[in-house]
Amino acid sequence: MVSSFHTLLIIVVAFTMAEPQFGHQMRKHFLMKEDLVNLNAAAFGTMCRPAYESQRKYVDIMESNPNIWFRGVYQEPLNRARTRISKYVNAKEDDLVIVENASAAINAIMRSLADGLNLGKGDAVLYMNIAYPMVKNIINYLAKVRGFDVLIVDIKFPITSDDDFIVPVQTAISKYNGRVRVAALDHMSSYPSCILPIKKLTQICHDQDIAVVVDGAQVMGQIPLDITDIGADFYTANTHKWMYSPKSSALLHVDPKWHSMVQPIVISSEYGEDFVTNFLYVGTRDYCPYLALHEAMDFRESLGGDQVIMKYNHDLAWKGANLVANSWNTTVLVQKEDMNGALVSVQLPCDLESGMDVAKAIFDRHQTYIQLGHLDGLTYVRLCAQIFLELNDFELFAQRFKTILSEIKQH
Ligand SMILES: *[C@@H]1O[C@H](CO)[C@@H](O)[C@H](O)[C@H]1NC(C)=O
Ligand SMILES: *[C@@H]1O[C@H](CO)[C@@H](O)[C@H](O)[C@H]1NC(C)=O
Repeated sequence: MVSSFHTLLIIVVAFTMAEPQFGHQMRKHFLMKEDLVNLNAAAFGTMCRPAYESQRKYVDIMESNPNIWFRGVYQEPLNRARTRISKYVNAKEDDLVIVENASAAINAIMRSLADGLNLGKGDAVLYMNIAYPMVKNIINYLAKVRGFDVLIVDIKFPITSDDDFIVPVQTAISKYNGRVRVAALDHMSSYPSCILPIKKLTQICHDQDIAVVVDGAQVMGQIPLDITDIGADFYTANTHKWMYSPKSSALLHVDPKWHSMVQPIVISSEYGEDFVTNFLYVGTRDYCPYLALHEAMDFRESLGGDQVIMKYNHDLAWKGANLVANSWNTTVLVQKEDMNGALVSVQLPCDLESGMDVAKAIFDRHQTYIQLGHLDGLTYVRLCAQIFLELNDFELFAQRFKTILSEIKQH
């Protein structure tokens, strides 16, 4: 017979297990303002408290004696962070370095490629219309200086399948007839957000001897990442956006065949030995955010690890975005669920100007922060899920947006 004590125990256990692990009760692990509803956490990332404490601890050690810190203390924990990240993304440690951010990585790669491949008249470098502005800027700048062509592949939204990327890329490359030397591709685009068939696109480029540079700024911690499987020549991913680590840090992975060609954007006093050393010491740069990656990754594991976090965030983003789209009678811009991560773009029920007015009012009145975008006449909001958000946040947002929009229209 089950004793009443056991019955009680069973009830308590069942209750604890049924309790949603994620949602608003997660806010205590972060430093955000109490009333902030951040539906744009992807933009700058959200650091967890254990990473914050770790970063501060390292700053204290650094300042207690900068001489020994820079001459030999930070290197060991930094290499440990490299080892751990390499495993996490399935890459070889000797091919991976940590840099400030994806911009630093892409600048280093594009400048190195322009010099190393001697890109000039007759050559072309490919990017998509949805590439991050930083990527376009560095390529356009180099094109102007060196005289190569820029080949822009136009992607049309809404997206319904991988072919929406594969076909335009194949068509563009074949038109250029062997002249494309480098392709800069997103693994996951930012504006509008979408997961690209990156392995397939990389193969298509490699078949034509095109070097592939992948911008994975949004990937790490949001969706699974296997760098070896993708097989690109260069891959960069920010770690501060989705990993809960301090701002800012990113990984740069370089296939061994390019090691001798790639130079950091800042060439420092420790230089010339090998690829990893060239990126290891960049003077009095702040290495503490990199070191705190350990605690960020421990924190993720304490929550149940990547699978649980990614599933919660994806499901929330997908459900939340569809709820918003239904409420507005519009549509999500990427209609195939598995081409979305935890970042889903929804068409606005108005033009960009009204949208901006609503966004401002919704922040002033409800401390809800959103990011809007536009592409080819389509206006959209890019909604971002995180473990400290709940479906209710999306529901309230959808209603409040409609209410404020109708107020604005009446004026
Ligand atoms: C990225 O890092 C570079 C180099 O430290 C810095 O100049 C730049 O402001 C950073 N950019 C972003 C977007 O954080
Ligand atoms: C929703 O949008 C469709 C097409 O955009 C339109 O035909 C329909 O009338 C709209 N429904 C409502 C309830 O506004």
